[in-house]
Amino acid sequence: MANTVIIGAQWGDEGKGKIVDLMSEHSDVIVRFQGGNNAGHTISVAGKKTILHLIPSGILHPQALCLIGNGVVLDPQVFLEEVDALVSNGVDASSKRLGISYKTHLILPYHKALDAARESARSKDKIGTTGRGIGPCYEDKASRIGLRAGDLARPELVKAKVERALSEKNILFTHLYQREPMDAAKIADELLSLAPRLLPYLKNVEEEVSRAKMAGKKILFEGAQGTHLDIDHGTYPFVTSSNTVASNAATGSGVGADVLDTITGIVKAYTTRVGEGAFPTELFDSQGAFLQKNGHEFGATTGRPRRCGWLDCVILRASARLNGLTEIALTKLDVLRGLEKLKICTAYKYQGQEISYPPQGEGTLGEVTPCYEELPGFDEDISGIRTFNALPANVRRYVERVEELVGVHIAYISVGCDRDATIVR
Ligand code: GDP
Ligand code: IMO
Ligand code: MG
Repeated sequence: MANTVIIGAQWGDEGKGKIVDLMSEHSDVIVRFQGGNNAGHTISVAGKKTILHLIPSGILHPQALCLIGNGVVLDPQVFLEEVDALVSNGVDASSKRLGISYKTHLILPYHKALDAARESARSKDKIGTTGRGIGPCYEDKASRIGLRAGDLARPELVKAKVERALSEKNILFTHLYQREPMDAAKIADELLSLAPRLLPYLKNVEEEVSRAKMAGKKILFEGAQGTHLDIDHGTYPFVTSSNTVASNAATGSGVGADVLDTITGIVKAYTTRVGEGAFPTELFDSQGAFLQKNGHEFGATTGRPRRCGWLDCVILRASARLNGLTEIALTKLDVLRGLEKLKICTAYKYQGQEISYPPQGEGTLGEVTPCYEELPGFDEDISGIRTFNALPANVRRYVERVEELVGVHIAYISVGCDRDATIVR
């Protein structure tokens, strides 16, 4: 059976949570492979919403084993809060079906403090991070001074590592950012007080995934953020601090790349972005306001309003290439209802030339002008439709045109936030 990687093809919030939940019904193992609680994945079942930041979006399906891979950065407090919230809603979030890799790096209070201090010091040059300490935690991983989940069993190591990390960071806090120094012993003690609850969740994730692969079980890899927030391939420096592209599903869960069969790119039927950075098709008029209102475009993590704009097939073409997309799930198509015309960006004008891929070089995406094609809109309520052929002609035309422009088959069409509001083609 085919294993599937789910990734965001735009700037995040494409509806990955919904599609992972949907596909989890027929999956045995679901693995988160990068990012942390900067993510906010919303699942809606029979009108009941569940928002997950760290725990894989397959958790509502009792048969699924949910794993957090080595590529994730995990805030221990947030993880436990999420477990408690699920349990209070009657979901089994025990270590029988939920695991964290020994190699997963931990987000500590000084990562969050550094994230906040940097952002406020950058002032108008800020990245617009979620403030969850994601960047500083990945920095410590790359600097080889990070704490990993497996360290929790060794109190002396935890204390030494926290002390070591703070010996540098306190100089930044006090000298550069004019903040109070942080207390290493207190931070280590607080972390160690959570260890008894966290340790049972530790698993050899790479072995679990490999065993599932050998047994012919179906594995679903859940990405966070989106392709254009990728640390290498996104709109640097306005990106997150991990690789969000599909190939990182292998690295971030500790398996060989041969396990990745189907690569599903989640594409919102228009574009949104939270935080700073270039956004060629952004709308500043009543149409942008329409998308924000009808699409309820407010961040699930920080509550910030999401910037909205037309669908951009140039960035989608790049996503198809960077991820090796084998199919697309097109979400939030219902939100476009009521717009008289639907615009699709087919190419950019850049330095007097028409280009079909984003230009290379920092800041260059901010210098392009989008070239649009206009399609007729639709007025019908499509949220109850469950087959492609039953969709109004103008809706089918939009879907087929996107497919043509991006060059990837649209296999799923989502017409409402609920699990059931999906057309499988
Ligand atoms: P993710 O980060 O990619 O998982 O996406 P988010 O959960 O942050 O944002 C997507 C939002 O759109 C959530 O509130 C979903 O419930 C909602 N959503 C997903 N698919 C659809 C859809 O087809 N139509 C509508 N109206 N809402 C959707
Ligand atoms: P999901 O998984 C949308 C954005 C932030 C900021 C940049 C860097 O829900 O799609 P960070 O805190 O990661 O250092 O912030 O990345 N960002 C997201 N935007 N959806 C997300 O996740 C995001 N995670 C991070 O807004 O611009
Ligand atoms: Mg989100």
